[in-house]
Amino acid sequence: MNKNSVKKYTLKDGSTISIRAMTRHDVDVIYEFFQHIPEEDRLFLKHDVADKKVIAQWAKELDYNIALPLLAFDKYNKIIGDATLHMEDYGWSRHIGEIRIVVARAWRSKGVGLALLKEIFMAAVEKKLSKIVAQMAADQKGAIKVFEKLGFTKEAELKHHIIDLKGQTHSLIIMSNDVKEAVKSMEAYETEQLSLNPAEG
Ligand SMILES: CC(C)(COP(=O)(O)OP(=O)(O)OC[C@H]1O[C@@H](n2cnc3c(N)ncnc32)[C@H](O)[C@@H]1OP(=O)(O)O)[C@@H](O)C(=O)NCCC(=O)NCCS
Repeated sequence: MNKNSVKKYTLKDGSTISIRAMTRHDVDVIYEFFQHIPEEDRLFLKHDVADKKVIAQWAKELDYNIALPLLAFDKYNKIIGDATLHMEDYGWSRHIGEIRIVVARAWRSKGVGLALLKEIFMAAVEKKLSKIVAQMAADQKGAIKVFEKLGFTKEAELKHHIIDLKGQTHSLIIMSNDVKEAVKSMEAYETEQLSLNPAEG
């Protein structure tokens, strides 16, 4: 996806969404989106998105080679999902991309996550990354299922690595996949299960 393109997807329930990269003008809409995401789902994000100044800073420093944030919008142009591909531009992890994804509760299990992940994998190919990882809590069963469907496997478990809002610790799971394998699984999954119809807008 180049920085000006917009992709349209038709989900399995017939609704149409569009996906594009975040721009510097999206601070208010992103802030609004994260206000409706339950706090426990916000904890795993790299930045404190409850603080508008953090999002403003993030927009100011926007560099698609370090973090590529993709936004999914409904037909009213309201954000319903966000997926970011985090990368290193130097060092021994420069072939790795890390995904962080969150979809608005009301839009879950409709295919928004898969549409965003498809665009993330395509961006990973363009950026010549070879391995892709995602981190989640061991009890985020839904997220684990989504990634397993796309061929990701558990690579590591770090015990007591996460502390939740109540101060309880949880294991952190690191799931990974080869970028090419992820693209292949996505294509196979799409053929069998989905009607994700992207069109360049
Ligand atoms: C993980 C998450 C992004 C998935 O988004 P989503 O839009 O609901 O995902 P999709 O609708 O594309 O679902 C993809 C597949 O996984 C399945 N799935 C989604 N949530 C599931 C759940 N809780 N349990 C079982 N399967 C689930 C869907 O049914 C679908 O499979 P199907 O096509 O065979 O029906 C979303 O649940 C979320 O925002 N979770 C909180 C944040 C998080 O945990 N992020 C992951 C860490 S990076």
